[in-house]
Amino acid sequence: MNDSIRIFDTTLRDGEQSPGCSMNLNEKLALARQLERLGVDVIEAGFPIASEGDFEAVRAIADQVRGSRICGLARTGRGDIDRAAQALAKAASPRIHTFIATSDIHLEHKLRMSREQVLAEVERAVTQARGHCDDVEFSAEDATRSDIEFLVQVFQVALGAGASTLNVPDTVGYAQPDEYARLIRTLRERLSPADDVVFSVHCHNDLGLGVANSLAAVLAGARQIECTVNGIGERAGNTSMEEAVMALKTRPDVFGGLDTNIVTTEIYPASRLLASTIGVSVQPNKAIVGDNAFAHEAGIHQDGVLKAAITYEIMTPQSIGRASNELVLGKHSGRHAFRDRLDELALALDGEAFEQAFRRFKDLADKKKTIYNEDIEAIVADSVTQSDDRYELGDLSILSGTFAKPTATVELLVDGEARRATALGIGPVDAVFKAIAELTETKIELLRFQVNAITGGMDALGEVSVTVEEGGRKVIGHGAHSDIIVASGKAYVHALNKLAWHKQRHEVAEPKGI
Ligand code: KIV
Ligand code: ZN
Repeated sequence: MNDSIRIFDTTLRDGEQSPGCSMNLNEKLALARQLERLGVDVIEAGFPIASEGDFEAVRAIADQVRGSRICGLARTGRGDIDRAAQALAKAASPRIHTFIATSDIHLEHKLRMSREQVLAEVERAVTQARGHCDDVEFSAEDATRSDIEFLVQVFQVALGAGASTLNVPDTVGYAQPDEYARLIRTLRERLSPADDVVFSVHCHNDLGLGVANSLAAVLAGARQIECTVNGIGERAGNTSMEEAVMALKTRPDVFGGLDTNIVTTEIYPASRLLASTIGVSVQPNKAIVGDNAFAHEAGIHQDGVLKAAITYEIMTPQSIGRASNELVLGKHSGRHAFRDRLDELALALDGEAFEQAFRRFKDLADKKKTIYNEDIEAIVADSVTQSDDRYELGDLSILSGTFAKPTATVELLVDGEARRATALGIGPVDAVFKAIAELTETKIELLRFQVNAITGGMDALGEVSVTVEEGGRKVIGHGAHSDIIVASGKAYVHALNKLAWHKQRHEVAEPKGI
């Protein structure tokens, strides 16, 4: 049996499906490059039939990311598989991942198909996918609530048609570790496939057991874990990549030395890049990547760690790429130092995006004595997301206070054309949002507004996140600036750009069955 665990990252597909986590093309490309640096074996880059945007993202990633295998998801329909194959045409190592539900619940209520029809569909779809590429993964959606006899039959057909990865999803996060391990063991025994066939696990976290179930399955012989950075994904999320990888690394005694190809020092940069891209930060006590994951607060713990880190630390922050949060750059730092720091933080920027980020860094360094890694990440997140945006915030001025009626004058570039408006509001932020709404002729509902100081101190950069909704679609926008009113304007414009991008995406088919 294969002695390493493949990491199949589905941040850009299952992760991106979760509310508020959608990304545009440039954001997906930047994240895919980071996943490549991280050493993930397979990047599930999207669901090409779902929309033009998904198709283009898979195509661009397949074209530009060569170090990981690139995978596209497809239902079993002919159109889905052809579309996935087209999107993957330029990939160095493509994989088509096709799936159909196998539980009676799904057959009866969703697919309205008989078991015989499902078997025929699996055979046809896997054969069609193999006609396009050698590497085909088949998933039995809702496997953990499927009849085991039928599941064995389904996987037998998929194997016979040429699938080389058999994925056993716990689609609704229902399984318990022992039970899931037993299922994997039973499937391995009953199917006894060739040595190069890999059993894969894909767990959702509805009962908080995604990582536990994935690791139990590894002990039962699974050799691919499907997971996402920061555990994002449908509902309660998917198995968290960083937790699964670090559990394997930290406990070789339990996992018999089974390891992954992950460059663990790239874990933290990947987590930060994702969080700043989607504007969804991880909870402070989140294992591995949360702010407090390596913070020792209790005196007795601090004392122990100072005497010997091993007393309370089972892994080092450095092993996951958490550099110390020291002053990194200041106003005398030049282009070279800035680029070096970007490299260390795995924040690749070229050309105009680099120049723009550098200018913003210099502006900030004029106002703020100490520039931290988090400040740099915030600047870069802004620069990466701006390149294909419809709206760009220009100048902004505010009149506010105890005896003035809050008034904002905002200049906005709309498709490159400068427009200016003045609006009154309940407060200065409200006035800015009203002026922007007037300039963009949009009516969106503001659901949430949050301000954070990115780093400590009076001169901290302020980061604003807004959650807005238009026509049932929710998006999160974020912006950072030393002036929180400007940061608010940026966050609002960022959200509007995401909505505009969604409108352009031109939905081809509503994804079903996931
Ligand atoms: O959760 C699930 O079943 C899926 C499949 C498409 C693998 O995401
Ligand atoms: Zn899933």
